[in-house]
Amino acid sequence: MKNINFSIPAHKVTAIVGPSGSGKSTIFYLLERLYQLSEGEILLNNININEYPLDEWRKQIGYVMQESGLMAGTLEENLVYGIDENYEIKDLEYAASISNSSQFISKFESKFQTQVGERGVKLSGGQKQRISIGRALLRDPNILLLDEATSSLDSESEFYVQEAISKLIKNRTTLIIAHRLSTIKNADQIIFLDNGVITGIGKHDELVISHEKYRYFVQTQSFD
Ligand SMILES: Nc1ncnc2c1ncn2[C@@H]1O[C@H](COP(=O)(O)OP(=O)(O)O)[C@@H](O)[C@H]1O
Ligand SMILES: [Mg+2]
Repeated sequence: MKNINFSIPAHKVTAIVGPSGSGKSTIFYLLERLYQLSEGEILLNNININEYPLDEWRKQIGYVMQESGLMAGTLEENLVYGIDENYEIKDLEYAASISNSSQFISKFESKFQTQVGERGVKLSGGQKQRISIGRALLRDPNILLLDEATSSLDSESEFYVQEAISKLIKNRTTLIIAHRLSTIKNADQIIFLDNGVITGIGKHDELVISHEKYRYFVQTQSFD
């Protein structure tokens, strides 16, 4: 990372775009405090994020890793992972409903007690993503880090996942590592990262005009 400097507006969507290896995931790791900065600072409302107790900090953040977020166990265990308060069945039903999971869960004989298998192998890609979204809904974080899936889903599954995401990000401060043109076009702010450097910040219409590499990405739709 070299001279990285940007602001993330509250309750809006910021998309991070750039070639593979440019540092997109690193930004997420730094925000989650999985890595410490060697230089510089990250502030939330003018307070250095290191001043928050780590557990309190992590509680504010929901991380939706869409391809690998599940673990062996039941659907219920996967949905409530990371929650320390008591919850009721209606909370599970709410999360399933908003994440467009209710329908497929109701078709399983054991419902919320269905075993998903190691890393969720018994679910389809789109189902796994929706359970990850349901988990984030239950945690109800202020800040949402979303790593958009690169693998393609069938168009019906894609529709349900995108709809669930749009409900999840409402009124949250959201950062998306974006791979889809539709996500990027809808973002309030796009940050273009290239080899650890921000080479452009703006909206789609602005970057298409001002940023040659962004324009190339859009033309080829090759968002890594
Ligand atoms: N822990 C680390 N220490 C040093 N370099 C790292 C570490 N993690 C990733 N990198 C390097 O940082 C660069 C950015 O990686 P990454 O954030 O994963 O990029 P992206 O998500 O945009 O593909 C890559 O060159 C990668 O090899
Ligand atoms: Mg990455």
